[in-house]
Amino acid sequence: MPHNITIQNTEKSRISEVDFNNIGFGKVFSDHMFLADWDGKEWTGSRIVPYGNLSLSPATSAIHYGQAIFEGMKAFRTGNDIFLFRPRENWRRLNISAERMVMPEVPEALFLEGLRTLLNLDKNWVPDSTGSALYIRPFMFATDDFIGVKPSDKYCFCIFTCPVGPYYAKPLRIKVEEKYSRAAPGGVGFTKCAGNYGAAMYPTRLAQSEGFDQVLWTDPVSHTLVEETGTTNFFAVTHQGVITPNLHDTMLAGITRDSVIHVLKNNNIQTEERPLTISELKTLHAEGNLKELFISGTAATLINIEGFAHQGEYYDVMKTGNTVVSDLLRSQIDSIRHGKSADPFGWVEKL
Ligand code: COI
Repeated sequence: MPHNITIQNTEKSRISEVDFNNIGFGKVFSDHMFLADWDGKEWTGSRIVPYGNLSLSPATSAIHYGQAIFEGMKAFRTGNDIFLFRPRENWRRLNISAERMVMPEVPEALFLEGLRTLLNLDKNWVPDSTGSALYIRPFMFATDDFIGVKPSDKYCFCIFTCPVGPYYAKPLRIKVEEKYSRAAPGGVGFTKCAGNYGAAMYPTRLAQSEGFDQVLWTDPVSHTLVEETGTTNFFAVTHQGVITPNLHDTMLAGITRDSVIHVLKNNNIQTEERPLTISELKTLHAEGNLKELFISGTAATLINIEGFAHQGEYYDVMKTGNTVVSDLLRSQIDSIRHGKSADPFGWVEKL
């Protein structure tokens, strides 16, 4: 169903104020944003307006009870061409989150037309320096001004974008988390709801105060099985192939994770999605068979783990290992995302 999108152009672009060689991550916002409102029955008011503050009642339901979900995706530039990477997967996952959080479904046409119209307007904001991209943040939140606890009747769907550099600047030191949990079975760990990120901040802050960059979440029951890190999925490269924890409802099904698995298999690298224990990681390390650890995510892309700490011991993986498989993945995925090499999986959509 076509959505009539009204466009209000900014009076003055901010693009000339941006130092594209120094953009960092998530602090610089492009000129416009896309908005639509769920009025209880249908999506209305599809519009593009200058990026700016939203006006909200203090009683806005999302702020109190957390009906707020988001996605993270990227567009890449090669010369004058701009490529979107697997946008329909983000649309699909947004609706998986929406269903669990009792929020309305966003139709594919609304999501993609809003996105494409916005990007066409702000295409000069897609950076082209190495490691950079336009980060795209679609999100939805409850807008009823009502403080009884119930699913909201009204919602706002918004997309804004930011030119970004790398999320992590260097390989990470991570701490295996054995006390706190990110999610519980039957809970919302598989969704990209705001609360999952808020709940992770305290344990992450503790790990950072001990000199680590991130926590490595373990299963919430025995704390022996690897799950994911704060913002990414997790991969171990051994002497035999690659292992990544199998998905279940306490973990986020990363689109980059799925891309990594496809590219590994396409390179005939043995890849297993299965339970992975901390003690297996430690045994592999002791035997010299743990070659690489890396994490994957849209924002983080693909970053090596220097080492992990467990019960006070630090296991340095990069000291004895290498980065052969992660380098190969980085270069092949990057090349597909930039439209520079064949796309055997049909992932890339030109703007
Ligand atoms: C992403 O990788 O896009 C994420 O959503 C992680 C983080 C920036 C919240």
